[in-house]
Amino acid sequence: MTDQQTEKKQGVLSSNVVMSGIRPTGMLHLGNYFGAIRNYVRMQEQYECYFMVADLHSLTTHPDTSLLKEHVKRVLAENIACGLDPDKATFYCQSHVRETGELYLYLNMLAYKGELEKTVTFKDKARLHPENVNAGLLTYPVLQTADIIIHRAGLVPVGKDQEQHLEMARNFVQRFNHRYGQIFPEPHAFNFNEALVKVPGLDGSGKMSKSENNMSTLYFADDDDTIRKKVMKAKTDAGPTEPNSPMPDYIENIFLLMHLVSEEGVIKKYQEDYNNCSIRYGDLKKQLAEDMVKFIAPIRQKADDILANDKYLVETMQKGAARASESAQKTMKLVREAIGLNYF
Ligand code: TRP
Repeated sequence: MTDQQTEKKQGVLSSNVVMSGIRPTGMLHLGNYFGAIRNYVRMQEQYECYFMVADLHSLTTHPDTSLLKEHVKRVLAENIACGLDPDKATFYCQSHVRETGELYLYLNMLAYKGELEKTVTFKDKARLHPENVNAGLLTYPVLQTADIIIHRAGLVPVGKDQEQHLEMARNFVQRFNHRYGQIFPEPHAFNFNEALVKVPGLDGSGKMSKSENNMSTLYFADDDDTIRKKVMKAKTDAGPTEPNSPMPDYIENIFLLMHLVSEEGVIKKYQEDYNNCSIRYGDLKKQLAEDMVKFIAPIRQKADDILANDKYLVETMQKGAARASESAQKTMKLVREAIGLNYF
């Protein structure tokens, strides 16, 4: 390392604060749980965590807000039902932290039109909705950066689809720090250094996702019969005819889903049945369906109980808002001083 590099490295702040955002569009599904929430639940035991419902971000693509309240409350309830603990982590709504809007404004002066226009998520959304290519959509990564650094967080548990946004966040942070002084750590994706679990869809292709195919995604709001019906519809075939045949993708996916919710011994039995060609896919799917029901039903029940208790939800939001705002106010004091907006 050259002296200059060493100096640069020493200048980089590090942070063990965790921050992530959850969009309140659509219901939570199994992919969200194994891809993200399960990690949040682990992180809240070891780190200072801020988990946020990104209600403002949703305005960039969902200007009709008639269902917003309902969606925000559902996301809160479902995440808590999955184990996110509002006493351990700060769990709040983006719109309750007004300071984020202020930081977003300052960061907008450090974000260039050209780089924003090149963002993959921007291009995708602009293509999908050419009638609503608004400036909020263009500066989505700037608001996301503000969300993260308002708590001076460095660890951001997100999936691959958010890598580019984080890279942009690091650029904005570097520009801010370079211009106004070392205030912010650079945020990085963080998932316990483990590969993220991909939850395959039930149609044998792709992964479970919010909006794509309702039949291939298991939602925490699905009732028991819906879960059974979806699992039983999963694609299979006549079964292997040669011992120890390689598995087609769609069968492998059923086993992958089993690994998430079924007991090892049960999986092993079906694996052996597959290898000696005695497997009955109907039984395999019935097993998976029942294990899914066992996994999902208590979470659904808990989410319903929370949703029925509006007082609890409101108090939870207020508690989160108070804690998140306190952290944001501390950061903004530093920011205004650093920029020179402290006239008295
Ligand atoms: N853009 C993220 C998504 O689409 C949601 C989000 C908003 C976020 N603000 C954030 C994620 C801050 C991490 C950190 O999922």
